[in-house]
Amino acid sequence: MQTILKYTAPSRLLHWLMALLIAAMFTTVWVAEDAPEWLDHTLVNMHKSFGIVLLALIVIRIVARVASPRVEPIKASPAIQKGSHAVHGILYLLLIAMPLSGWAFVSAFGRKIDFFTLTELPAILDTNKELGKAIKEFHEIGANLVLVLVIAHVAAAAYHHFLLKDKLMDRMLP
Ligand code: HEM
Ligand code: HEM
Repeated sequence: MQTILKYTAPSRLLHWLMALLIAAMFTTVWVAEDAPEWLDHTLVNMHKSFGIVLLALIVIRIVARVASPRVEPIKASPAIQKGSHAVHGILYLLLIAMPLSGWAFVSAFGRKIDFFTLTELPAILDTNKELGKAIKEFHEIGANLVLVLVIAHVAAAAYHHFLLKDKLMDRMLP
């Protein structure tokens, strides 16, 4: 199978755009916690809207990944390669599961998603408070998992860049 040395431009652009959006997802809810009510409301609305944008981007990213040639496997032991694939795979799954679960529990609580105050998105579940609570719990656990995996991912990238000084980082840079 044909392989390339660097991620394609659309994959690189989407990776960094999504990294920024993930930072925004955490910042909005963390700052909202201690914010006055009007700000809390605005931040949670931004959280929901950015989350829907992320859902669209991850779908495009997965299609782009499947459609493009694979990047060369990294020069590392099979165990490290498997570990890095597992982290990337779980991150892709979570990036689908997080926005969907957010949308689902907001719907199950009978609340609205006012997409950037432009339009109201339809509910994807009927109102069901019990189910809403369970999905919200999943959303919170999933968010912690995203955080742990992103920290491990960034630490691995930093290890390659600063200690191993190999060209791994260049594969994802402009
Ligand atoms: C400062 C933050 C980040 C840095 C420095 C970074 C760095 C990198 C690098 C260098 C690669 C390429 C690895 C390789 O060539 O095998 C990569 C791939 C990847 N990154 Fe990041 N990343 C960051 C943030 C994120 C975030 C926030 C996410 C998602 C939550 C993410 C998800 C991924 C995924 C899924 C891949 C695999 C791409 C693929 O093979 O399809 N990254 N990252
Ligand atoms: C990748 C996407 C997402 C990530 C990483 C994420 C992350 C988070 C985090 C970290 C929290 C705080 C959890 C806690 O308090 O322990 C949270 C809460 C919440 N999320 Fe998300 N989320 C995402 C997508 C969405 C989407 C698409 C929606 C709805 C459309 C949504 C709706 C909510 C709501 C309503 C809360 C509760 C906020 C509050 O009132 O405190 N999330 N999310």
